[in-house]
Amino acid sequence: MKHHDLIRQFQHIFQSNEQPQLFFAPGRINLIGEHTDYNGGHVFPAAISFGTYAAVKRRPDNVLRFYSLNFPDDGMIECDLSHLVYDDHDGWANYPKGMIQYMVEAGHAITSGMDILFYGDIPNGAGLSSSASIELVTGVALESLFDLTVDRIDLAHIGQKVESVFIGVNSGIMDQFAISMGKQDHAILLDTESMVYQYAPITLDGYTIIIINTNKQRTLAGSKYNERRNECEEALADLQTELDIISLGQLTPAEFDTYSHLIRSSTNRKRAKHAITENARTLDALNRLNEGDLEGFGTLMNASHQSLALDYEVTGLELDTVVHAAWEQPGVIGARMTGAGFGGCAIAIVANDHVTSFKQSVNDHYKKTVGYEATFYTASIGDGAKELTAN
Ligand code: GLA
Repeated sequence: MKHHDLIRQFQHIFQSNEQPQLFFAPGRINLIGEHTDYNGGHVFPAAISFGTYAAVKRRPDNVLRFYSLNFPDDGMIECDLSHLVYDDHDGWANYPKGMIQYMVEAGHAITSGMDILFYGDIPNGAGLSSSASIELVTGVALESLFDLTVDRIDLAHIGQKVESVFIGVNSGIMDQFAISMGKQDHAILLDTESMVYQYAPITLDGYTIIIINTNKQRTLAGSKYNERRNECEEALADLQTELDIISLGQLTPAEFDTYSHLIRSSTNRKRAKHAITENARTLDALNRLNEGDLEGFGTLMNASHQSLALDYEVTGLELDTVVHAAWEQPGVIGARMTGAGFGGCAIAIVANDHVTSFKQSVNDHYKKTVGYEATFYTASIGDGAKELTAN
């Protein structure tokens, strides 16, 4: 949305002639390293050009008013700065509410209420982290409006706490980290155990990253996500009966083969196998990129998808259908689901001159199998959360 349109909408909705400040936080894709971030492993995400915009103005009182152009039926959601608790009725607004509350709890002086207008162009429920994007756009707005100094990684941790404590999905740090720390044309390899990270330039000469939305809403994602997390924790506890480790991410695939018999449940053994092999693939993926070995990178993406399908069991018919169809197309380097799974999006690296036929063929196949269409977007890798200038 154009900046002046956002300002106009703000003034109209909040009946004001004042000029709000504008902010943006992206969504994210993850190139590889899925379901590793709560297992002390590595992830390799990138911020994308789709995201959430916010127009924000301080108020003279302690009232908070939230409005989203994406959820006009929810109307204006109002609450007081001194009483920020989760409320089912507040729907999407629980994300900014939680963010404000936890910024206050982290010791930041939020000294007045605000009017905030949100607009997002991330497809909702597609697994591209629209919720983390709302958290982080709120975070950077608070930072600027109240003149705070907040470390970017701390800001990501506050967003993660909103997700896990305020909302109740016990997610890892990947999404908030990628959105807080993103950099144009770079993916970020992050070690989620030590929080050491490095930027890797993504220059895919002659290739495009295509995002494929299955349009399958991730309805059960929250509960299934927490279930996977528990399974990994049980597997770790079994391994710890003999091994001195604090996370699955500390084991190599070879070590896992030696000790996997310690894991009593065969389901939990498969979950741990995914987490450990995926971590190894992610490290390998960075090396492949650095060596300019795009084919090798693609092969790792494909193996990641197989592991998520067979060992982690988070893909399902829709994601498997688009990814398998993608693998069949000419000019495709690799394809895999991205994000939590259970519906949502996949990504594929496709040669530029095959993109049009790729979309057509994958969509035809998907529609025949699933009964409705997929949606395709071109991913450009953009910056992390930031303030925008009005023009
Ligand atoms: C969701 C979570 C992340 C991560 C991914 C799976 O996006 O929010 O923390 O666990 O799923 O890799």
